[in-house]
Amino acid sequence: MTLFDFFQAEELPVPAITPTQARDIARNHFGVEAEATALGSQQDANFLLTGTDGKPIGVLKIANPVFSRIELEAQDAAAAYITQAEAGVRTATNVRPTGFPAIAELRSEDGAVLYARIITHLAGGTMSGGQYVTPARAAALGRLAGRTCRALADFDHPGVDRVLQWDLRHALRTVEVLAPHVSDPHRRDAVEAAAAAAWQVVADLADDLPVQVIHGDITDDNVVCSPPDTGRMPDGIIDLGDLTRSWPVAELAVAASSVLRHEGGEPVATLPLIEEFNAVRPLSPAEVEALWPLVVLRGAVLVVSGNHQASIDAENEYATGSLDFEWRIFERATAVPTEVMTAVIRDALGVAHPADPVAAESPLLSLDPRTVTRLDLSLESDAMDSGTWLDPACEANLAAEAIAAGAAAVITTFGQPRASRSATLSPVSPATISTGVDLWPAAPVALTAPWEGVIEAATADTVTLTGAPGTVEVRGALGVDDAVRSGQTVAAGATLATADGHVWIQWLRRPDVAVPDFVRPEYSAGWLSLAADPGPLVGLEPVAASSGDSEALWRRRAESFATVQEHYYDNPPRIERGWREHMLSTEGRSYLDMVNNVAILGHGHPVLADAVARQWRRLNTNSRFNYASVVALSERLAATLPDPLDTVFLVNSGSEAGDLALRLAMATTGRHDIVAVAEAYHGWTYATDAVSTSVADNPNALETRPSWIHTVPSPNAYRGRHRGLDAANYAPEAVAIIEDLAAQGHPPAAFICEPFYGNAGGMALPDGYLRAVYAAVRATGGLAIADEVQVGYGRTGRWFWSFQQQGVVPDIVTVAKAMGNGQPLGAVITTRAIAEKYRTQGYFFSSAGGSPVSCVVGLTVLDLLEREGLQANALTIGDHLKARIGELATRHPIIGTVHGSGLYMGVELVRDRTTLEPAAVETAAICERMRELGVIVQPTGDRQNVLKVKPPMCITRESADFFVDMLDHVLTTGW
Ligand SMILES: Cc1ncc(COP(=O)(O)O)c(C=O)c1O
Repeated sequence: MTLFDFFQAEELPVPAITPTQARDIARNHFGVEAEATALGSQQDANFLLTGTDGKPIGVLKIANPVFSRIELEAQDAAAAYITQAEAGVRTATNVRPTGFPAIAELRSEDGAVLYARIITHLAGGTMSGGQYVTPARAAALGRLAGRTCRALADFDHPGVDRVLQWDLRHALRTVEVLAPHVSDPHRRDAVEAAAAAAWQVVADLADDLPVQVIHGDITDDNVVCSPPDTGRMPDGIIDLGDLTRSWPVAELAVAASSVLRHEGGEPVATLPLIEEFNAVRPLSPAEVEALWPLVVLRGAVLVVSGNHQASIDAENEYATGSLDFEWRIFERATAVPTEVMTAVIRDALGVAHPADPVAAESPLLSLDPRTVTRLDLSLESDAMDSGTWLDPACEANLAAEAIAAGAAAVITTFGQPRASRSATLSPVSPATISTGVDLWPAAPVALTAPWEGVIEAATADTVTLTGAPGTVEVRGALGVDDAVRSGQTVAAGATLATADGHVWIQWLRRPDVAVPDFVRPEYSAGWLSLAADPGPLVGLEPVAASSGDSEALWRRRAESFATVQEHYYDNPPRIERGWREHMLSTEGRSYLDMVNNVAILGHGHPVLADAVARQWRRLNTNSRFNYASVVALSERLAATLPDPLDTVFLVNSGSEAGDLALRLAMATTGRHDIVAVAEAYHGWTYATDAVSTSVADNPNALETRPSWIHTVPSPNAYRGRHRGLDAANYAPEAVAIIEDLAAQGHPPAAFICEPFYGNAGGMALPDGYLRAVYAAVRATGGLAIADEVQVGYGRTGRWFWSFQQQGVVPDIVTVAKAMGNGQPLGAVITTRAIAEKYRTQGYFFSSAGGSPVSCVVGLTVLDLLEREGLQANALTIGDHLKARIGELATRHPIIGTVHGSGLYMGVELVRDRTTLEPAAVETAAICERMRELGVIVQPTGDRQNVLKVKPPMCITRESADFFVDMLDHVLTTGW
């Protein structure tokens, strides 16, 4: 029996079978009664068979007549083999109904022999389309491809030795044969050129590439996924139609290239897939080198084959609809030179890079290296304080300062991620890493050839010399020597030019690959492998610039820092600088900070930093001494509150403040019972933890309540027992519980509650709620505690204290977080009478609470809050944000509602607006994707389905818009 040979075969479109004919085939040849619905395919006719109950029975596959029976038998055998070899890999196998053949032979209307089979239908849906693929899903696809490849390593069958256009061993030939079908000449030329260059690399490695049977088409279209709650991870394979003997690394290249067609599918998006494949089925050095050229070849084959198929089968929507996707794969595969991607892959897999270049023979500049100053432009440099990095002229300004201070020349560092190249509000990481150095000489300085070589270019502002150690290029304020001409060979030490101002110097290892001056961190391992540090050309020691390895730091952290302490993200960036509402990673990526409700003034506020530094130099002690700031802060705080709240305790945190408030209530009333709102969080100390029943903060919260804690239902008007207008029922319910406690002989010492409900996502309490509950608790002789730790200090925009929204005055107020802008600082403010009752417990002292430094922080925060109009900003920007997110909700059904006021908001995400099923997995994934787009946002709430929107209160409208635009983008393109 002859096996298929693409290069010999006639062009055959997909067999023309209608759904009705498919239904008849299922009935007549397999005894299966079913409805048949056409499924797209490039070469076969596939139909989904469903029973009378609408449930899938299987997939009827009628193979293209170019394929022989033995090839189909090979595919069925391979599917069964994979199922056996790799438990957990779901595989579509031949179902062969009893009494019927595994493969039925039929005749088409024109008399051709057609082979039909019924294959299992695997539930879960594919990854088709252009939606975003998370790194975890890409990794799962890599794992699946690796496991399939591993399973098939020992498989063989006479039906696998076919010649397919999809077999990358024939890629160049396929491109050559089919390229004429690409009608756009630019595209055709690009595809042919890229394929030829990639093939050259692969051909040189071919002898070292192992060969085995491979699936050959493990792509987004040919995998099925697990249910949404497990993240829709690809865990099953369908369609073994391209089964053939080929290079196992081609299995990986095919899978990796399929990621490139998706939203955000840039070349580095394939790394998780490649790493995971390598973990399951380790790649040999030759396979690593061949991988990206094969991805390019796959892209080229897809483009030419797609155009070919569309030309012979214009009716096939599946084929014509894919053309854009195929072009996108090719474009992205070639967006970065293969040399660069190969080095990036080597780096990701921990494979050694090739050897270093040889040294220069003669200096490029005749400068005494001791007179040259290095300019540190990393974000850890003090020169980047106070947002200096945002000024485009900062590099030149800093160089001028160093020259003014006596430097003969100023030079930057090779490979350094520069804060000065960072960009705020950017959805992609900016190109921050330098592949050369800048040099500013104080006076004109001669440039001489560092090695013997050929002058490649000599223009008014550029001189380029290529010799054995590579190419050196100098660009900028140059006076190129008249005698220096392009094409000329010069000896080491020959004069080239004079630098009389800023110049850029690059040392490239390979003259044939142009390297951009600045590259993105994700690709820096690749680009930097093609360049060398020009520092030694100036007589300086080479510098190993670091991007501050965030992963290594994260591992070290786990070794010494108790891991029970919460953290954001599984693989967090290393953040070492902040400015206003922006946070900067050591790679120079700027993130918009939407979660730091503590830093109300924003990050790195210079006035606060100066005030603290001044006070530290002067005095820091404790409040047993008599100094002005503790008085001033107490007066200022008391003045923000209505009478009779006039007496202040200063502590160090919200937990301490809450603890003290509870003790004050117990001391005042002589009682021990406390009433709290269910699902709230008040702190981690023994007492504040006792009153906290948020399961997000403590999964055992409900079981471990001491008997003296009593909760009233969470007054959640969105998803609680009483919703909408019925939320008015929460107050009488709480009142009844309090009255009942009193009747049973347990009148509470206090009722504690956040006046805006934080753990529910920043929700306002039902109107009149606190008025009724405060009245009830006071009627029994208890006190009302307002936890303003999160919601005080103007964050809600309309009110400085959130209890004002409810028209009540508590007996005790706790505050922290914003009060110190992140410095440990908290306070309890109460009446003189209640404060005095503490004496029954002893006397109160907190070593650092109310220290001069803390008080200066507290006073400066209040000053700046006022001076910079931050409460008003919270209102304006908050209203704007709420309106814009509200508009998103009209287009994205996942947004259930938007809670909150001012810059204290929660965007609640649901799977269904009627059942309100929380979209927790989705919320986590959306946060991850937002981070990729440069926004830090996190889930909150007991169901972890609310995006907390609590940025520094200095946030600008532009930043708020960026957040909403990115959220819109994620909700539109996937997460
Ligand atoms: C409402 C509320 N109260 C109290 C606290 C405890 O504050 P701290 O973390 O400063 O101890 C928190 C902290 O998240 C809080 O959100």
